[in-house]
Amino acid sequence: MTDHLTIVTHPLVQHKLSLMRDKETSTASFRQLLREISQLLAYEITRELDMTTRRIETPMEAMDAPILEGKKLALISILRAGNGLLDGVLELIPAARVGFVGLYRDEETLEPVQYYFKVPESLEDRLVIAVDPMLATGNSSVAAIDLLKKAGAKNIRFMCLLAAPEGVARMKEAHPDVPIVTASLDRGLNEKGYIMPGLGDAGDRMFGTK
Ligand code: URA
Repeated sequence: MTDHLTIVTHPLVQHKLSLMRDKETSTASFRQLLREISQLLAYEITRELDMTTRRIETPMEAMDAPILEGKKLALISILRAGNGLLDGVLELIPAARVGFVGLYRDEETLEPVQYYFKVPESLEDRLVIAVDPMLATGNSSVAAIDLLKKAGAKNIRFMCLLAAPEGVARMKEAHPDVPIVTASLDRGLNEKGYIMPGLGDAGDRMFGTK
């Protein structure tokens, strides 16, 4: 994957995203749509996984069948909204290892502070896919990727549902080696840091909180 930003324009993704953006969409539908889109984004982000072959016997004859090469990939959910993307991707890649990064914003310094960090071993040998539905300012995404690199990750991709140009620019500056895959590049951020037109607070919409 060489492009820094990939927008998945597949009609199914775009249709489901429009349903998710609609404020009348229920929590249950929002969750289900997120699960479905996450699998389509995962399909795109894993397009160039390394392959090898394994000798197998079909009922007809022996063949060298293509299989994935290397260590199981690592999915890293950036809490809490990342969990909505994680569930769907895990259905598609059930053998993946899973990690979690929890960050909150210090109200005085406005800097992200880590409160939870648990990731699979041997990150350096795995493709690492960090998931967070909303790439807004990019502050927490950049901080999460910093932590993953510190833990050894070398081959990282970032999956989100919506991206703001501000967040993409911040990620490109801090982590030019981390490709971003998203369903949409929206117009920008409002004064409160929400993506416009966006879909509101992704965590609240998927968990039914306010
Ligand atoms: N996080 C969200 O959940 N929504 C936004 O619009 C921005 C950040």
